[in-house]
Amino acid sequence: MCGIVGILGREPVAMRLVEALRRLEYRGYDSAGIAVLEDGTLKRVRAPGKLGQLMACLAERELKSTIGIGHTRWATHGVPTENNAHPHFAGRVAIVHNGIIENFKTLRASLEAEGIRPETDTDTEIVAHLINRRLGQGLSPLDAVQKTLEELEGAFAFVIMFEGEDDLLIGARRGSPLAVGHGEGEMYLGSDAIALAPFTSRVTYLEDGDLVVLTRNSLTLYDEQGRQTVRPLQFTQASALLVDKGNYRHFMAKEIAEQPAVVGHTMAEYLDFNVNRVTLPELPLDLAGLDRITITACGTAYYAGMVAKYWIEQLARIPVDVDVASEFRYREAPLKKGGFALVISQSGETADTLAALRYCKSMGQHVAAVVNVPESTIARESDVILRTYAGPEIGVASTKAFTCQLTVLAAFAIAMARARGTIDGDEETRLVQTMNRLPRLLVQALSQDSHIEEVAKKIAHARDILYLGRGINYPTALEGALKLKEISYIHAEGYAAGELKHGPIALIDEGVPVVVIAPRDGLFDKTVSNMEEVAARGAHIVLITDEEGARDHGQNTFETIAVPMSDPFIAPILYAIPVQLLAYHAAVFLGTDVDQPRNLAKSVTVE
Ligand code: F6R
Repeated sequence: MCGIVGILGREPVAMRLVEALRRLEYRGYDSAGIAVLEDGTLKRVRAPGKLGQLMACLAERELKSTIGIGHTRWATHGVPTENNAHPHFAGRVAIVHNGIIENFKTLRASLEAEGIRPETDTDTEIVAHLINRRLGQGLSPLDAVQKTLEELEGAFAFVIMFEGEDDLLIGARRGSPLAVGHGEGEMYLGSDAIALAPFTSRVTYLEDGDLVVLTRNSLTLYDEQGRQTVRPLQFTQASALLVDKGNYRHFMAKEIAEQPAVVGHTMAEYLDFNVNRVTLPELPLDLAGLDRITITACGTAYYAGMVAKYWIEQLARIPVDVDVASEFRYREAPLKKGGFALVISQSGETADTLAALRYCKSMGQHVAAVVNVPESTIARESDVILRTYAGPEIGVASTKAFTCQLTVLAAFAIAMARARGTIDGDEETRLVQTMNRLPRLLVQALSQDSHIEEVAKKIAHARDILYLGRGINYPTALEGALKLKEISYIHAEGYAAGELKHGPIALIDEGVPVVVIAPRDGLFDKTVSNMEEVAARGAHIVLITDEEGARDHGQNTFETIAVPMSDPFIAPILYAIPVQLLAYHAAVFLGTDVDQPRNLAKSVTVE
């Protein structure tokens, strides 16, 4: 979603703003812009499309200003034109915004009633006018912003600059993330620490409701009630080098290839291979005493939650409810006080997942977050963090974060089962040793890359592709279909293999590719029967199975992809690799924007 930055510097800021915005590209956007105070007056350069287009416009301008704000926009109100691109101006005010102002129509009407005519369709411009109106009433910039924020409903992070104020930026957040970077005689604001990493590693994260007033040498923070407050200064690990693709053509390819290493790092935090035991951080409750677990997440993280349901229910014999967060937050689920909820999020900023977390807390749940960004809002608001060590994930389509989430959840399921006595020490040893083999198996699965590329080319021209899986491999079918559609734009659906006859089989026609995920587990024969049913109706079967499955059933398929033999327990982690590679190569073949697919945002900070 939108990325925002601000710099109060000692050198010209235009190119530094673009540099920071480039590091926010991964969030997804469709236009960009910057504004500076040139000789005391507000000036801006904006462009639809990617940062390259903004750079081309900037090349024609010589901007020397040492204060400025910048924005990458993921359109919510108004199409992605230059006119709707941020920053927005109104009188003395320039503003960039991430989020949605829900009552903007009412606010717009009140401005129009006063004869103010906004130039754009955006909710953001309305905020600029409201602040400017307060300035016109004689309020200071701080008072004008504070009074305006009281009028707003919705989620936002703002950075605001004022004509005539060469040493002042104001930032505010409610719902959307915002961080302050501390430099030497310089100050910065950004949607995340990755944006600020080229300038500083010293960061203060704003809490929800905070407002910050920055000069080049000072920071004054106010909390939700308007009381002056302090927030800790932290040293971020985000590196200035992190946005490097290395030798890879896309971040997604790099991130897929990193999985043996990052799954290994994540395992090292939760599994003690010396004694073959799981070691979780201290939890605020006794796992043995629980009678139910609630899991909420969105998209790929939700599919990780679905896998966790199979693991936890099968191993620990405790019911697990898994919900899409955007539904859960409004479902008014009754939750027994003192219960346990897990939220799963790569970014830790997904608005729906955050709202689900807050709902769970309001219902007296202990909340643990499986999260990749430890400084994120979800991490900070949870009782316990079960961190994934995937490192920054830049490609919009989640890959390594997913397998790291699964790694943590597998460890959690084992720990839960041990605490409840549903498995013994020997079984824990066996499962931990099984997981220990994962990095090597993931490397072997990755070695199928060139074969999978050939398969991808053969199916890339299909209009529809179906993915089938059974049991714990059903979520992999859903994830495979999601990966394919989001980056290649081919229509794809994942189905539980046994559900096919209840309707979806009508979609099967001569030559429709059907990807069947079938490790040789207890359900293998049943999945193979479903595969035969669709093959008999002309489908082109792409069978993803293990070496034995390929040997026994790989002859009459359209294509077979063989994954190394493994214990069925870790199949969801291992089989993520071929479905990711299939989607990746199909997208590359079709020439789509793999790392920043159309309409998508990395961090979905609006509902
Ligand atoms: C798909 C994808 C999304 C995210 C979802 C949740 O490839 O990346 O479906 O999984 O938007 O995001 P997080 O995990 O940041 O809460």
